[in-house]
Amino acid sequence: MATMGSLIGLVNRIQKACTVLGDYGGGDSAFSSLWEALPSVAVVGGQSSGKSSVLESIVGRDFLPRGSGIVTRRPLVLQLCKIEEGAPEFAEFLHLPTKRFMEFSAVCKEIQDETDRITGKSKQISPIPIHLSIYSPNVVNLTLIDLPGLTKVAVEGQPESIMEEIEMMVRSYVGKPNCIILAISPANQDIATSDAIKLAREVDPTGERTFGVLTKLDLMDKGTNALHVLEGRSYRLQHPWVGIVNRSQADINRKVDMIVARQKEREYFATSPDYGHLASKMGSEYLAKLLSKHLESVIKARIPSIISLINKSIDELESELNHLGSPIAVDSGAQLYTILEVCRAFDKIFKEHLE
Ligand code: GDP
Ligand code: NA
Ligand code: MG
Repeated sequence: MATMGSLIGLVNRIQKACTVLGDYGGGDSAFSSLWEALPSVAVVGGQSSGKSSVLESIVGRDFLPRGSGIVTRRPLVLQLCKIEEGAPEFAEFLHLPTKRFMEFSAVCKEIQDETDRITGKSKQISPIPIHLSIYSPNVVNLTLIDLPGLTKVAVEGQPESIMEEIEMMVRSYVGKPNCIILAISPANQDIATSDAIKLAREVDPTGERTFGVLTKLDLMDKGTNALHVLEGRSYRLQHPWVGIVNRSQADINRKVDMIVARQKEREYFATSPDYGHLASKMGSEYLAKLLSKHLESVIKARIPSIISLINKSIDELESELNHLGSPIAVDSGAQLYTILEVCRAFDKIFKEHLE
């Protein structure tokens, strides 16, 4: 029987198949219903709220493009796979299946290049996801989707409509009933104005699929703290809030190593007069474990409905192949066969999980 870790990996493989078929929201094929039904974790927050920093901390590497303006312009589906201690880390992209990236600076450049390849360097946004898998001893098994930051101000050279486009794209993810929302808010701003919490409240009023994350605790005004939020006295959600201390801009400029940064974060909480009593439930490592566990349990609960949607997809693909008859375009025929095989394999493995 496959392990729970590979269950998250399996769902990621179906997500990839949906992207290959062009079904990542919208559309009405069996595959888009499947895409809709797949549990996922989406990262949302305003610009500069600390989204990239949280993701990098969870990965233990810096690999995300940085800069001013709207940097994330396509969804990034980031699959983390834990490998054995001491094994070398590497990364792979769905669009470059034969290439293994050992250097994370090259991963960063490839994300930028692949974004531009679709958006044509015009700084437009596109809903077509980039799929990146990272294999490392320093991660937990988890899939996270990084989305463009919510913004209220158009950036120079970009049409006003980009703000609405971003909001629509983010909504197409967080609106799915099986989407777990990682809502990032900076502690040095009033949470009442947090774009992430505003959106999460709207699409998930009971807070059952929202994880609130409070970044920049170290940047709060002296004499103030965020205990009222972290202890669930204000902005209560079903899941406990997690406080985070990421690298500051000065740390980034000094290229402070991510593993060192994690350690500094742990020390911050362990020695904090305000948060010391919550230390074991704070920080990016705790957040990663919490999310991994939650995602596994959500997937497990959804297995029967995923199986039935996979079988609908199999039926649809089989009839599509029958109708294609011959001659069929070699490419599309071969692609459908491959996906059909993948679906049959999923069906088999998911059923094993039910036993
Ligand atoms: P994003 O736009 O939401 O992806 O935000 P980034 O992760 O790029 O962070 C924006 C800026 O805030 C960067 O300069 C980070 O160094 C800084 N930052 C993010 N989180 C923290 C934090 O917890 N503490 C401090 N001091 N700075 C942070
Ligand atoms: Na913000
Ligand atoms: Mg970012």
